[in-house]
Amino acid sequence: MSEVIIVGSGIAGLIAAIETSRQHVVTLITKAELSESNTRYAQGGIAVALFADDSVAEHVADTLRAGAGLSCPSVVEVLCSEGPARVRDLIRLGVEFDRRNGELARGLEAAHSRPRVLHAGGDATGFAIESALVHAVRSAANITILEHTFVKDLIVRDRKVAGVEILNEAGEARSLSADAVVLASGGAGQLYPHTSNPSVATGDGSAIALRAGAELADVEFYQFHPTTLAVPGNFLISEALRGDGAVLLDSEGHRFMQAVHPDAELAPRDVVARGIAEQMAKQNGAPVFLDASALGAEFLKERFPTIDAACRTYGFDWAVQPVPVTPAAHYWMGGVRTDEWGRTSLPGLFAVGEVACTGVHGANRLASNSLLESLVFAWRCASLLLNEETFSKAWPAFSKSEVHVLPAEENSTATPVDRAALQKLMWETVGIYRDASGLKRAAEQLRGWRRDGATVSDCETANLLDLARVMVAAANMRQESRGAHWRNDFPETLQSFQHHQNFRREVSA
Ligand code: SIN
Repeated sequence: MSEVIIVGSGIAGLIAAIETSRQHVVTLITKAELSESNTRYAQGGIAVALFADDSVAEHVADTLRAGAGLSCPSVVEVLCSEGPARVRDLIRLGVEFDRRNGELARGLEAAHSRPRVLHAGGDATGFAIESALVHAVRSAANITILEHTFVKDLIVRDRKVAGVEILNEAGEARSLSADAVVLASGGAGQLYPHTSNPSVATGDGSAIALRAGAELADVEFYQFHPTTLAVPGNFLISEALRGDGAVLLDSEGHRFMQAVHPDAELAPRDVVARGIAEQMAKQNGAPVFLDASALGAEFLKERFPTIDAACRTYGFDWAVQPVPVTPAAHYWMGGVRTDEWGRTSLPGLFAVGEVACTGVHGANRLASNSLLESLVFAWRCASLLLNEETFSKAWPAFSKSEVHVLPAEENSTATPVDRAALQKLMWETVGIYRDASGLKRAAEQLRGWRRDGATVSDCETANLLDLARVMVAAANMRQESRGAHWRNDFPETLQSFQHHQNFRREVSA
């Protein structure tokens, strides 16, 4: 029996905890309530090749196509081939996916060649998964749950991760030792002022891994969801709506995506997000509209109850009128570089879920592949930890490819970083569009800021600052356009850039 610390309580952290606790003593640390995470807000669902008219090969092909040449084929194969068994496990753990005539119901989303997206509670898939897994974690022996506890940094001894430094709700610092630390702390939507992510998504896991000397990969690829309600808080309007026939309209009520891509509203997510951003620019920044009225009031309420309620809260009757939508930061393809077992470049440290970069998503994640990735790779990571031999085996020689090393030092004359100013800068310079002059401005401004304060909120902002720096460096180096990374000054996709960019930070001795 070993001590395993798991950081984060979305689908990846909960699955890792449930499975690992079958043999080890697990401490599950989460900075808000156990049930708060990006997972909880996932709407569309979980993509899986589970139906007779579908195949793993087709799911693999769709994932690779969306990834724009950067998805790692062998890891995608793992994702799609192990997905069906893991989804059945999820059903056994109590997740009740929607059914039609007794059979699992499935939706279509952009860039999928056929409908394969399971959903629950209509558009409350994440909530259904999170609720079932929280129940399982609370009922499990061997799991100590630390809620409202922030992991400030990793403890590294002799180049091996040996625990975490935490801050509790009262701001008291403490160290916890462990034989293994699994990061499952999710994404970093709070890098931007407009995001579908909850306030907890501040990239903490990636930032503490970076500071400890672990490698990050693909950090320049940030996915913007095309359709969030154009209101403060950017409520997500699921892609499944467009899969069911909702269309995008300009300010004069005309469809515009047909002129952008042959698949129109169901083109890959990056294409639709850029199509909307361009249309908004032509309209002096005014949002475009999503027209779902043809689907009918009854269908909208039954299939999309969460969005239905949100639209009505904001005063929109979407069954009769188009609703204003705008892109927002949604999912980070980059993160802590891992192998297909969740091992990072730092012995003793694992990463699963959005915090990890397994290489499956490449430059652009296929819709609804993220819950599946979390599920499959959290399970694999746990299975490696359950096996005495693989748990204790020497860490694999990890990195054969080039790794860029960033300096660690802070500029002592810099001014304290302000989160809102950081988010605005990121939106303007490392958002849907990038170019050399914007990235230069971003790099200079980021150098002029320093971390400030010791509260949890200050630590989160410092994490965002560390991540912003590495993202700007990576976006500047990638002088091409690919997937979610669009350079106005380098619009072509280049063979010479068909590789991952890996980064680590200097670690002071
Ligand atoms: C959505 O429901 O549109 C989001 C699904 C996803 O991001 O995979």
